[in-house]
Amino acid sequence: MLRSQIVGCGAYLPERVLTNAEMAEIVDTSDEWIVERTGIRQRHIAAEGESTSDLAFAAAERALEAACMKGSDIDLIIVATATPDNTFPATATKVQARLGMTRGTAFDVQAVCSGFVYALTVADNFLKLGQARTALVIGAETFSRILDWKDRTTCVLFGDGAGAVVLRASAGAGTTADRGILSTHLHSDGRHYEMLYVDGGPSTTGQAGHLRMEGREVFRHAVVNLASVINEALEANNLAAKDIDWMVPHQANRRIIEGTARKLGLPLDRMVVTVDRHANTSAASIPLALAEAVADGRIRPGQLVLMEAMGGGFTWGSCLVRM
Ligand code: UT7
Repeated sequence: MLRSQIVGCGAYLPERVLTNAEMAEIVDTSDEWIVERTGIRQRHIAAEGESTSDLAFAAAERALEAACMKGSDIDLIIVATATPDNTFPATATKVQARLGMTRGTAFDVQAVCSGFVYALTVADNFLKLGQARTALVIGAETFSRILDWKDRTTCVLFGDGAGAVVLRASAGAGTTADRGILSTHLHSDGRHYEMLYVDGGPSTTGQAGHLRMEGREVFRHAVVNLASVINEALEANNLAAKDIDWMVPHQANRRIIEGTARKLGLPLDRMVVTVDRHANTSAASIPLALAEAVADGRIRPGQLVLMEAMGGGFTWGSCLVRM
């Protein structure tokens, strides 16, 4: 049985840091409110002229370096993004060209904040079917470009960034003791479109539009859906929450992460948390957090890591991996 192993992680954050104090100069908010309600203290913002593909490329280069591989070694690139450089072509093809990869396949996946889990699932299926041997899966976003900077209920919540992983297919016996992706579970429910969406697009207004969110409603659904998708992953693998070494959750709100940990009975110190420094980077948040915890030695080879996310659509999902 083929299994997709994570053999390298990389991350990139734009240089410019925007603090909550600076936010309070833009909209009627305060550091106190933002920290208390979300846990966010700062976010990174892409420079003028710096696009999603620039962030994606930088994260990809670092992931390839960690995997001791070159762009030409990669068969498949998937970029998860809701903020592509252009309506078309896919941002992934821009990254492909910059990496010097002239063969294989590159395309984008759009599931907003669940995008990275969706992209990992697609790549995992390619590898398991033998349709690719290696894959670069990237989550990259420049949400600062689709924020309404006059709307305090949304603009304080998001940031820009990118994270990437390199996957390699390897033959395993198919048990949870083997390294690699053990399971993926995806869900969506399009009835909730209006709770989190962008009020523009090429076939509606012709403009990129701005992010709109019913925060309280999204919060309510997130807590329920995330608990359910985590239990689904645990049951599918005959595991209990205590068997998980690390949770790498989507970073939307510290209170959601803490609520999830409480529901599972997992200590908070087994959750990788970056929301305080990165804010919500949508599809980039999980690979950014994963790369950080791998780089600082918290996540080690052989450990069980559960990633989960929920985003616009609604979409939600999980990925369980033995590192
Ligand atoms: O990544 C995709 C998934 N996204 C999420 O998971 C986000 C989920 N939602 C949330 O994280 C939270 O709902 C928010 C952080 C968006 C909001 O927190 P909340 O505790 O649900 O606040 P609220 O929307 O109920 O607003 C409470 C109050 C309101 O004032 P009133 O009506 O009580 O007088 C808001 O107008 O806080 C006010 N408020 C603010 N005050 C200062 C809203 N935004 C701000 C702000 N600064 N930035």
